[in-house]
Amino acid sequence: MISPTRLFKFLFAGLLLSPVVAQSTSPFLWDQLTPSQDLDWVECYSTFECTRLQVPLDYSNSSAGTAALAVIRLPSNASQAEYLGPLLFNPGGPGASGVDTLVTTGPSLQVVFGSQYDIVSFDPRGVSYSTPVASFFETDAERALWNAGSLPTSLNASSEAIPTTWARAHLLGQLAAQRDTSGILTYMTTDNVARDMLQMTEKFGYEKLQYYGISYGSILGATFAALFPDKVGRILIDANLTIEATETDKVLQSFFDGCAAAGPDLCAFYEPTAAAIAARLAALTASIRAQPVPVITPTAYGIVDYSFLRSVLFTSFYVPYTLFAPVAEGLAALEGGDGSILFSISQTTPPFQCDCSNATEPFHLNNAEAVVAIQCGDAVEVTDSLDQLREFYANAARTSEFVEFLVGANRFSCDGWQVYREGRFLGPVAAAHTSFPLLLLTTSADPVAPKEAALKTLAGFPGSAILTQDSPGHASITAPSICTSTYFRQYFQNGSLPAPGTVCPVEASLFGAPANSTASRRAALSAEEEEVLAALKIIGDSVRPLVTRQFQL
Ligand SMILES: *[C@@H]1O[C@H](CO)[C@@H](O)[C@H](O)[C@H]1NC(C)=O
Ligand SMILES: *[C@@H]1O[C@H](CO)[C@@H](O)[C@H](O)[C@H]1NC(C)=O
Ligand SMILES: *[C@@H]1O[C@H](CO)[C@@H](O)[C@H](O)[C@H]1NC(C)=O
Ligand SMILES: *[C@@H]1O[C@H](CO)[C@@H](O)[C@H](O)[C@H]1NC(C)=O
Ligand SMILES: *[C@@H]1O[C@H](CO)[C@@H](O)[C@H](O)[C@H]1NC(C)=O
Ligand SMILES: *[C@@H]1O[C@H](CO)[C@@H](O)[C@H](O)[C@H]1NC(C)=O
Ligand SMILES: *[C@@H]1O[C@H](CO)[C@@H](O)[C@H](O)[C@H]1NC(C)=O
Repeated sequence: MISPTRLFKFLFAGLLLSPVVAQSTSPFLWDQLTPSQDLDWVECYSTFECTRLQVPLDYSNSSAGTAALAVIRLPSNASQAEYLGPLLFNPGGPGASGVDTLVTTGPSLQVVFGSQYDIVSFDPRGVSYSTPVASFFETDAERALWNAGSLPTSLNASSEAIPTTWARAHLLGQLAAQRDTSGILTYMTTDNVARDMLQMTEKFGYEKLQYYGISYGSILGATFAALFPDKVGRILIDANLTIEATETDKVLQSFFDGCAAAGPDLCAFYEPTAAAIAARLAALTASIRAQPVPVITPTAYGIVDYSFLRSVLFTSFYVPYTLFAPVAEGLAALEGGDGSILFSISQTTPPFQCDCSNATEPFHLNNAEAVVAIQCGDAVEVTDSLDQLREFYANAARTSEFVEFLVGANRFSCDGWQVYREGRFLGPVAAAHTSFPLLLLTTSADPVAPKEAALKTLAGFPGSAILTQDSPGHASITAPSICTSTYFRQYFQNGSLPAPGTVCPVEASLFGAPANSTASRRAALSAEEEEVLAALKIIGDSVRPLVTRQFQL
């Protein structure tokens, strides 16, 4: 959800710098595995097992053909008596590769949830190593050229921003429809992915799903529960995405408040009061709007302009514990005419180079295309005129200062989408009775998944429970919390739910200043809890770039 059409192809690339997603994924030749109707595991990625599971493209029409899902697991080491079956994991996106993510996070997920589980993930149909793969472009060069034109553009950047964004969405919608030779776009909707999860569960010999989903993974989990309420074993959904940006400005406020509290040593953009920091940021923004700053780093080059500045700020709202301090430093440098720090936060990859031959086969880096295909294909068709979209944007802008990257853009990106399947699931995302309660997680201020959205979902699934993690940012992965992970583990292992009103603190602080309460809690951690904390950090580092990566195309 929530995918501005023209935003940061590259923000996630910058965030990928430290984490591990790309490099530890040693090549595994998926195309050499024969798709099978059973889980025929083979060794892969050294300690994992992989299989390609054949599923019907259309569960109500077997003549529509099949897809082959790339499925991976980190097997449990438990004895048969203690084995608790498969725990399926979806890291979000939509369109993120579950396979790549599990390779970096599998062992850590097993630490958090327990080694009695097989930790399982998969590339959703149409995504990455699952075939057929959704692709709108014929070559890597063509894709790179399109993406170069999709550099972060705030809908508020100029009077042309809205019409240009609208036109690009229409162009992309036509292109996608024309080039969908495999027909996969029709079948990539979330309801079908939920059906695939049921298939996987049954192939494991289990009747009910055990599932952990983050960000878009929440939509997938809730859709499963609505479609198959009697197949819910455990469903943990972490961050309920929505199009209402009601908490976005709260996260911005936490930047101002946190910086003022952290002091000049920890926050480079420090002023004695939050209001003074806000004013300083407004002045800097106005000056950059008037005069953008060109930047050349050793590996890349570009322009820090109004859109760029706003989009880096908005990205930091997802991951404040990681980005507030460097962003503050970048803002201070930018005042002095040096855009390199801010630029490096988001753009670290060299300019695209290629020999301009056709895309290398098998092609699988299609997350940018998958995000559009899934979120638009899931939705009610948008048929707004440009004027209606303008009005929609103007109304939405009343809820948040940063709506330029959210509501408006999300709606824009699907205006012009053409491939809709009749009979797709359009809600309600609810069920009067599920075979086990869901567990929902919300943070205290999430830029794209406010608590009120989670409360709506909670109301739709009577008996379910909600846990609040006391931290700004998107999903529990914004910062590690032993308290949160203990509830997660208990929910899976013995089914217990947090009491109503439970709020968990985190083992981290904004701007890196260890708050006294955090410090004393840290000092009291057991060796086992230290191990969990380390695991949570690995999961966070690996998944955080995926959840901000929605801003592509
Ligand atoms: C089933 O799929 C086939 C192949 O795509 C198609 O020709 C046929 O019309 C479909 N049948 C129904 C009932 O949708
Ligand atoms: C399985 O692995 C975990 C974590 O590595 C370990 O603590 C546990 O003792 C192992 N269990 C068995 C049955 O080998
Ligand atoms: C989240 O909340 C909205 C309500 O704003 C709801 O429509 C949507 O289905 C929910 N999605 C999930 C479970 O992520
Ligand atoms: C690229 O692909 C197109 C269409 O598949 C084909 O006609 C063309 O010969 C290919 N070009 C190169 C350089 O391989
Ligand atoms: C758009 O930018 C102008 C000028 O910087 C600002 O005053 C206004 O609040 C912005 N509007 C939105 C909706 O972001
Ligand atoms: C679940 O496990 C936790 C410890 O892991 C324990 O404190 C709690 O009482 C257990 N609940 C039930 C219902 O067994
Ligand atoms: C944190 O503790 C130190 C001494 O342990 C104290 O000097 C300081 O004032 C405390 N800070 C806060 C914010 O309570």
